[in-house]
Amino acid sequence: NERNKEKNMKILVTGGLGFIGSHTVVELQNEGYEVVIIDNLSNSTIEVLDGITAITNKKPLFEKLDLKVKADVQDFFKRHTDIQGIIHFAANKAVGESVAEPLMYYENNISTLIYLLQELKGLEKKNFIFSSSCTVYGQADELPITENAPVKPAESPYGNTKQIGEEIIRDTCRVNGDIKAIALRYFNPIGAHESTEIGELPIGVPQNLVPYITQTAIGMREQLSVFGGDYPTSDGTCVRDYIHVVDLAKAHVVALQRLLDVKNDSNYEFFNLGTGTGSTVLEAVQSFERVSGKALNYKIVDRREGDVTAAYAETSKANSVLGWKTELTLDDAMDAAWKWEQKIRSK
Ligand code: WQD
Repeated sequence: NERNKEKNMKILVTGGLGFIGSHTVVELQNEGYEVVIIDNLSNSTIEVLDGITAITNKKPLFEKLDLKVKADVQDFFKRHTDIQGIIHFAANKAVGESVAEPLMYYENNISTLIYLLQELKGLEKKNFIFSSSCTVYGQADELPITENAPVKPAESPYGNTKQIGEEIIRDTCRVNGDIKAIALRYFNPIGAHESTEIGELPIGVPQNLVPYITQTAIGMREQLSVFGGDYPTSDGTCVRDYIHVVDLAKAHVVALQRLLDVKNDSNYEFFNLGTGTGSTVLEAVQSFERVSGKALNYKIVDRREGDVTAAYAETSKANSVLGWKTELTLDDAMDAAWKWEQKIRSK
């Protein structure tokens, strides 16, 4: 029947031991897909594989491999000719680090994409999903942000690698009509799996808001610095669209099904993935305090260089074309993130 068609369909997930990648592997396995993960463990740990297996009782295939090594990428595809789709997460993603190390970001985020696309052309089914970001919009002129909003000059090399990545895919699809690709522009992914088997594992001092909140609450950090209280927003702090990582993961399964759908003949599309609701930093803090029952130690300090005032998604394209919308709330995500933080610090 319809559902069985996913059976023994093999999907490659690069960066599949990472935050969004691991949650997507779980949802793919829940749908019956067979998953092979490539990860170089530069920003993840092998224990994530056990976490995924603990949730689904199916251990994904895993190969430790650096996608920057072209010969290794070629060798992988010689051994896996039956891949029916690629979901490409593997990349460096720290905005600040990318400013300090632009060449590392351009090499890692761009060359790996090129090598994957070169191998994609040799597959029978050429389906590709690219992990992109709302950062391509910079500070949008209009809110909420639709897919028609202009891509703005990137504020960081990281953001630039997402813009360049999309252009590389678009140009490749233009002259390879048998490739079908979707770029997914994430807003702010947060939270963890309800099982507390997988979640966000920032290495070092977290750059992102929610892991910094949970590490402050658990006592690893002294105080949360709220970057800026004088923005033109409801309470002076920045507005973002915080999307639960499980909702985000499910969007990847739906996007893959669109690519696999023979009736769909569009060969390159992109979608904003968000809740459609903006929340200020203080509203996010209040959500955390509500669900955790803990008062958070925070202080409003100067703005952070490069932050936009506000970004949240207009979601009607993903809702109508993908038939997907978020189901989980900011409180759900904060609750899951807090439970995850307590679990990993209790070890
Ligand atoms: C969110 C808000 C900060 C930390 C970036 C990338 C995006 C995606 C997610 C990679 C901002 C404020 C944060 C803190 C704070 N990429 N903040 N104190 O910058 O919206 O998006 O990360 O995964 O492509 O651009 O996310 O979580 O860093 O910040 O006040 O200690 O929280 O100023 O307003 P951002 P973020």
